[in-house]
Amino acid sequence: MTDSIRFPERFLWGAATSAYQVEGSPLADGAGASNWHRFAHTPGMTANGETGDVACDHYRRMPEDVALMRRLGLTAYRFSLAWGRVLPEGTGRVNAAGLGFYDRLVDQLLAAGIAPNATLFHWDLPAALEDRGGWLNRDIAEWFAAYADTVVRRLGDRVAMWATLNEPWVVTDGGYLHGTLAPGHRSPYETPIASHNLLRAHGLGLRAIRAAGGRQAGLVVNLEPKYAASDRPEDQAATRRAEAYMNRQYLDPVFLGGYPAELAEIYGEAWPEFPAADFDVIRAPLDFLGVNYYTRAVHRHEPRAWPVGAGRVRQPQHTYTSMDWEVYPQAFTDVLLWVKARYGDCPLHITENGSAFYDPPTVEGEELADPLRVGYLRDHLRALHRAIAAGADVRGYFAWSPLDNFEWSAGYAKRFGLIHVDFATQRRTFKASARLYAEVIRTHGAALGA
Ligand code: FCB
Repeated sequence: MTDSIRFPERFLWGAATSAYQVEGSPLADGAGASNWHRFAHTPGMTANGETGDVACDHYRRMPEDVALMRRLGLTAYRFSLAWGRVLPEGTGRVNAAGLGFYDRLVDQLLAAGIAPNATLFHWDLPAALEDRGGWLNRDIAEWFAAYADTVVRRLGDRVAMWATLNEPWVVTDGGYLHGTLAPGHRSPYETPIASHNLLRAHGLGLRAIRAAGGRQAGLVVNLEPKYAASDRPEDQAATRRAEAYMNRQYLDPVFLGGYPAELAEIYGEAWPEFPAADFDVIRAPLDFLGVNYYTRAVHRHEPRAWPVGAGRVRQPQHTYTSMDWEVYPQAFTDVLLWVKARYGDCPLHITENGSAFYDPPTVEGEELADPLRVGYLRDHLRALHRAIAAGADVRGYFAWSPLDNFEWSAGYAKRFGLIHVDFATQRRTFKASARLYAEVIRTHGAALGA
């Protein structure tokens, strides 16, 4: 008989969204357009030409959405601020109405007993800054620090946790290498420069958050554990490159003060020399590391797979989500223990975890059955508990996402929500996964069984 599952007493039970994916009204009340607004409005960039113009209409329905989160029993909520709502030109003039929205959100959360966890940059860069070179311009680190200072001075007395950036790897791989996300560039020469400036912005941002009195400051990365398809040396080497590129590219500089050696090999002549002093800015202890986990990858040597020469090997014995991501909960346990082994003791939060599956249409007044998402949630929370039992210092879990929302270039068809959103009417309907999550929260995990 195993003991029943019980998470630590003060464990945070949260859910996560980002501004452009849920808010809608992207230009309301004096907000400056973001690069994502432009990208989504460029023909051919998103599924069916879908945009974040309306999304979940959260900008106008925020109090109602916070009430839904309270019904779930959440004790924390992770959201991001749209930089361009706060600073329409990205620097300089503050837009009081834009900052006011987040001020009201924070108060609404606190009144519902939900701890606010704010991310400063979740991919929507002010278009005015994109026009000045965006992440390719070294000055962006100072622009970002000034933005952080403005926001933390206003909200820092009430926000429990601050993250500088969300998933810098996705910003650069999708935005600068493959062109599938804003700003849609395709250049291996730009990619490492954008990565480096993201890291510099993180470093200066962390200092700015602390100087302005922010309570806890950290960084959010996506980690996808890499497993070799065989013992063949070339598969092992390909897997190491894939791991360096995705999982160590940002964490090694932050925790260890330098890039993994494999990156120079991957980028070849496109890999620049970086000033040594930059690493004094980048390397700094975090109050917490946010880990976003969705899936793993099994790799084999495949020279044509650009840029790392590592092809993915499909695992037909396992379920895949509608993002085509393999469901493999054990990797969640493994990756948390890997972080501890490689980077030492830093408190962790699971800042995103969740699954997109097809959902049938909703019926008024009825809970929606989503057995695959229920299974994913249950199995990943069990895997998380195993990691904690094995010594991972995880302080909170944020389900992606409370609401179905705008899944970037994949548009609205990929539904990650615990609560269904009918995008034609904005009707919200609880799914069975929401009920399971509420039960888990209420019982500190006991509802997951043994
Ligand atoms: C992550 C993003 C988040 C969401 C999920 C599904 O990479 O941080 O905005 O799109 O994937």
